[in-house]
Amino acid sequence: RSRKGSNLVHVFREKHNMNKSRQRFWELAGSKLGNILGVESTGEQSVEDTAVVGDHGEVDFKADAKFAQHLEKAEAVSDFAKSKTLSQQRQFLPIFSVRDELLQVIRENQVVVVVGETGSGKTTQLTQYLHEEGYTRNGIVGCTQPRRVAAVSVAKRVSEEMETELGDTVGYAIRFEDVTGPKTVIKYMIDGILLRETLKDPDLDKYSVIVMDEAHERSLNTDVLFGILKKVVSRRRDFKLIVTSATLDAKKFADFFGGAEIFKIPGRTFPVQNLYHEDPCEDYVEAAVKQAMKIHMSSAPGDILVFLTGQDEIEAARQALSERMEEFVSSTNQPISKMLILPLYSQLAADSQAKVFQKAEDGIRKCIIATNVAETSLTIDGVFSVIDSGFCKMKVYNPRMGMDALQVFPVSRAAADQRSGRAGRTGPGTCYRLYTQSAYRNELLPSPVPEIQRTNLCQVVLLLKSLQVENLLDFDFMDPPPEDNILNSLYQLWVLGALDNVGNLTELGWKMVEFPLDPPLAKMLLTGEILGCTNEILTIVSMLSVPSVFFRPKDRAEESDAAREQFFEQESDHLTLLNVYKRWEAEAKQYRGEWCNVNFLHGKRLLKAREVRSQLLDILKTLKIPLSSCGRDRKIVRKAICSAYFQNAAGFKGVGEYINCRNGMPCHLHPSSALYGSGCTPEFVVYHEVILTTKEYMQCATPVEPRWLAELGPMFFSMRDSTSSMLEHKIKQKVVKTAMDEEMENLRKIQAEAEKKS
Ligand code: CDP
Ligand code: MG
Repeated sequence: RSRKGSNLVHVFREKHNMNKSRQRFWELAGSKLGNILGVESTGEQSVEDTAVVGDHGEVDFKADAKFAQHLEKAEAVSDFAKSKTLSQQRQFLPIFSVRDELLQVIRENQVVVVVGETGSGKTTQLTQYLHEEGYTRNGIVGCTQPRRVAAVSVAKRVSEEMETELGDTVGYAIRFEDVTGPKTVIKYMIDGILLRETLKDPDLDKYSVIVMDEAHERSLNTDVLFGILKKVVSRRRDFKLIVTSATLDAKKFADFFGGAEIFKIPGRTFPVQNLYHEDPCEDYVEAAVKQAMKIHMSSAPGDILVFLTGQDEIEAARQALSERMEEFVSSTNQPISKMLILPLYSQLAADSQAKVFQKAEDGIRKCIIATNVAETSLTIDGVFSVIDSGFCKMKVYNPRMGMDALQVFPVSRAAADQRSGRAGRTGPGTCYRLYTQSAYRNELLPSPVPEIQRTNLCQVVLLLKSLQVENLLDFDFMDPPPEDNILNSLYQLWVLGALDNVGNLTELGWKMVEFPLDPPLAKMLLTGEILGCTNEILTIVSMLSVPSVFFRPKDRAEESDAAREQFFEQESDHLTLLNVYKRWEAEAKQYRGEWCNVNFLHGKRLLKAREVRSQLLDILKTLKIPLSSCGRDRKIVRKAICSAYFQNAAGFKGVGEYINCRNGMPCHLHPSSALYGSGCTPEFVVYHEVILTTKEYMQCATPVEPRWLAELGPMFFSMRDSTSSMLEHKIKQKVVKTAMDEEMENLRKIQAEAEKKS
């Protein structure tokens, strides 16, 4: 165990160093994502720039007399804002001043594009106006969000403004969580939910209005919804569609709907001074912490909003910042005013999210450390300083790994401007950009690349196929995905057995559509049916659908590792998850909280897994698939896992190291894996996904038998028969490959013809 402990520390350090290596990123920045996607950075400049600060902030901001005046005024504004009631706050929003004109335009047009700065009240007010205006008499008002945090928190806010219980008049739905009721007339939901609803109800009859919010985000599901809703608009004259955007790409949306009306909400924002780093910064987490400290000590007014890329960085920054504050107090013996450090990211529990919006007590400054969810989806009032790392995490198809990977990329100029705009909500503010002015001007892409053009489309393709979109290249995409992406997704679905050789859904494919799951996970469940272990697979799939249940506080790493090891089963991470769930169910009947604490498990996530499980079970029931168990024969479970993830098979190379069988990519056992350091060295494993940190680490690995690979993934693997010669074996392989190539070629031809037609 001690070996493991030290290795984990090692990983953490390496991870920290990685920030340094990102310094080089800037040199590649503009070109990097651009190269992958074939987009060019044009280097146009859109925002007026002001001062440049070095790493140590030589510029004294207070010396700027004009700016100081601004700040005084701003404080007055923010004091005024503090004293208002909810309904007064509603009337103070920019959208309120144009309420009647807006409703008039909506009355007269079927499709309206509404443009307004972040925080103008689009998300929280539009739905209420529609409700007040009677649009909820014959149907409900739906509002889609690309981010789950936003859907939940906005629904909560609106229910407060309307003085009802959440889930009553106002509700929300995200995957595996539906907080709506029979009386709900305003429904916030993640865009994927509405997309799935179109499967059952192609005309969306229960909705009178759909607000497609945050269209500028160009999330994959929103982009697909565009095409689908365009049809609904033409079929249902009584249906209204409102598309909202925080940026100026409105014309593109309006054109897509054949010249829809554009309505602009007048802005009310204050000037923001952008300050740049003189040199590329080595470690933006460290630089952000330093900058936040500096702002706090300078007694500049207002709250601070820091943009980092993800949970790990945010938690690291939070810890560093509070340590730094304590250090300062103990080393200088000077008192320092309080600062409330609050994280904000999508996996955060709801009560912690709520704190971000609450006003801190007088004299206490808030420092919110957020992912790009705070860029446009959520508005936090009272922020006067923004610290922008210049990076965000994005899901991008990684051809080397043959799958999507969440990777850190430089933000676009449009996103950087949105971020700096967050400082000018309540008064004039300052944005500290932790990158150089030349990076901003020359290296950033002008706007973000839509998700549909950079990620795997398997789930969407499966859905569209089931909506009888015969030819995907015919589908009305605002920006069609690259043909390679579509073909690649078709290929992956074919490999899984969801599509037949001519690209139609198979019986398996039709069943897979029913599950709101990634296609391989749905396949795993359905193989569970054939092999008689749905009960076990259901648990594994549910556990894979929630964030990791293992809790590993940094200061108790060894203890928590030991606790985790007690759940290890048969050197398989999947079976370990099954074991955790089973023991939680059996042992933690009464004292769940305590049992979870002792075992270093996240109780809430286990509860969530149980909820997911029961919903998936309902779907199995409607499909008339019985619950079956394989008892203690865990081999069967591993085989079902293999049936879904044989594309992710890796062969043993050396201690802790495997090689992906198909593309030769090295992949490593993660130190937290049940296989790591267990002395067991299976010849082959399959893994759930690869996460990229310092190395490619396999996330959730399970040993499989080579003959399963040959049986379940014959397009990739075959067993060498010891009685036949090598030559015979090669000939056999060639025959299989030729047949496969022909099938793919046919598919391509069909696609190409369709394209010619269109
Ligand atoms: O959608 P848009 O960016 O135009 O604005 P909004 O999200 O409707 O926000 C309007 C106002 O509601 C802002 O002042 C937010 O700070 C506030 N709000 C809040 O206090 N709590 C939330 N959960 C959401 C919004
Ligand atoms: Mg909004």
